[in-house]
Amino acid sequence: MLTIALSKGRILDDTLPLLAAAGIEPTENPEKSRKLIIPTTQEDVQLLIVRATDVPTYVEHGAADLGVAGKDVLMEYGSQGLYEPLDLKIANCKLMTAGKVGAPEPKGRLRVATKFVNVAKRYYAEQGRQVEVIKLYGSMELAPLVGLADKIIDVVDTGNTLRANGLEPQELIATISSRLIVNKASMKMQHGRIQALIDTLREAVERHRA
Ligand code: ATP
Ligand code: PRP
Repeated sequence: MLTIALSKGRILDDTLPLLAAAGIEPTENPEKSRKLIIPTTQEDVQLLIVRATDVPTYVEHGAADLGVAGKDVLMEYGSQGLYEPLDLKIANCKLMTAGKVGAPEPKGRLRVATKFVNVAKRYYAEQGRQVEVIKLYGSMELAPLVGLADKIIDVVDTGNTLRANGLEPQELIATISSRLIVNKASMKMQHGRIQALIDTLREAVERHRA
């Protein structure tokens, strides 16, 4: 059995057409089903429906052989325990710092609210800047508005969420897309099969981009 971990929403929406190119289609609609293990048209391939931030955990521990995760999630998780063989070029966005429009750069220790705590610490350490990182799980944009933090680190696409909250994008930390990730042992044990799937997905990505 080949098990693929995916998260509902944009990753599932954008990955299903790529999997379909490899002849893998869910036998029921994962967005509607309450089931967390979804069989596919290939008897020996199944999908696991997990939270976006949990995909690397399932794959690193071998509970899933493959998965699709945002580069932001992989940067935060630390991807040395995983293979990352293919950029699927979906769910494209940018990981950025943002702050209140026109707010002066605070002197001294910066307070940064984010769900990307490790990324934030690394980013400011590289700049030799003292920061207090405040962990949030969502609605990061609120933090500067109510004085919880000076800045946030979050993903930005259109910038509409920042604008709607009187914030502006500031520094680019990384350009983000979603990656196919593979469990290291699975890659050895099922090499032929997984490599064939990677090749088919790579072609589907290229066709999709053309
Ligand atoms: P969780 O549900 O675990 O909190 P999440 O809400 O970040 O995670 P999604 O919103 O489905 O999950 O995002 C999945 C991935 O899509 C993110 O890791 C990121 O790489 C990318 N992404 C997030 N927001 C956007 C956006 N507005 N536009 C494009 N891509 C995005
Ligand atoms: C993401 C992210 C930002 C927003 C950025 O949220 O957390 O809030 O997208 O996109 P924009 O620049 O186009 O406004 P999402 O829409 O995924 O909702 P979520 O908070 O449920 O993840």
